Amino acid sequence: MMSSLDATGIVAGYGAADEILKGVDFNVRSGEICCIIGPNGAGKSTLLKTIAGLLKPKAGKVSLDGLDITGQLPRDIARRGLAYVPQEHNVFPTLSVRENLEIGGYVDTENIGARIDQTLQRFPVLASKRRHAARALSGGERQMLAMAMALMVKPGVLLLDEPSAGLSPVAAEALFDAIVEIGREGMAIGIVEQNAIEALAISHRAYILVDGRNSRTGDAKALAADPDVRRLFLGV
Ligand SMILES: Nc1ncnc2c1ncn2[C@@H]1O[C@H](COP(=O)(O)OP(=O)(O)O)[C@@H](O)[C@H]1O
Ligand SMILES: [Mg+2]
Repeated sequence: MMSSLDATGIVAGYGAADEILKGVDFNVRSGEICCIIGPNGAGKSTLLKTIAGLLKPKAGKVSLDGLDITGQLPRDIARRGLAYVPQEHNVFPTLSVRENLEIGGYVDTENIGARIDQTLQRFPVLASKRRHAARALSGGERQMLAMAMALMVKPGVLLLDEPSAGLSPVAAEALFDAIVEIGREGMAIGIVEQNAIEALAISHRAYILVDGRNSRTGDAKALAADPDVRRLFLGV
């Protein structure tokens, strides 16, 4: 399945008065990993929440596979093939790995057992702990589970908010490897990261957001090599 996500001119925020996003563009298509980086508070998480339907944009348009999904409910957007993994509270800690996967697949319960098995095959570390409570997993395993839950609906577009936050370098690398693997299968992946150097290394394209606006956009390797980007955003 070919998928594409196009967000254009997104204006969104939390209150009536102030806008956090002041007209942001973001797009990603099948086979592409696009990262969104930028300073704390730039609006990266707000952008993902708006695309996923948790916030209604005041202006702008979100299209999924060419279909206007702006302002639709999160569950309807999920049903159309867009999966969103928030940064926190993305698994149910007291439930088992398997139960979490069951919940991940809630929008379509057909063949759920087989789909759980398929998902577990892709994440061997989770397969061996399928009966363990999610709270007993390591940080890296928990992020893998959050991603696995999202994949239960076989989405065309996967949006991840800081999947490597709080992980050890080794766990972060394993997670980035898993993301690259998933990307190879043709999913469109959008990933917000603090770990900008790593994110640029696994991405095809990148968006730099600053204060609710697009600052730089382009080829990830080119941006990673750009002296201004390195000085201002990568601290190297
Ligand atoms: N739930 C919320 N209610 C009100 N303001 C929020 C909320 N979440 C984030 N903000 C504000 O929106 C701005 C952008 O936040 P966020 O999108 O989380 O930034 P980033 O993910 O780039 O660090 C910040 O000023 C933040 O304080
Ligand atoms: Mg954030």
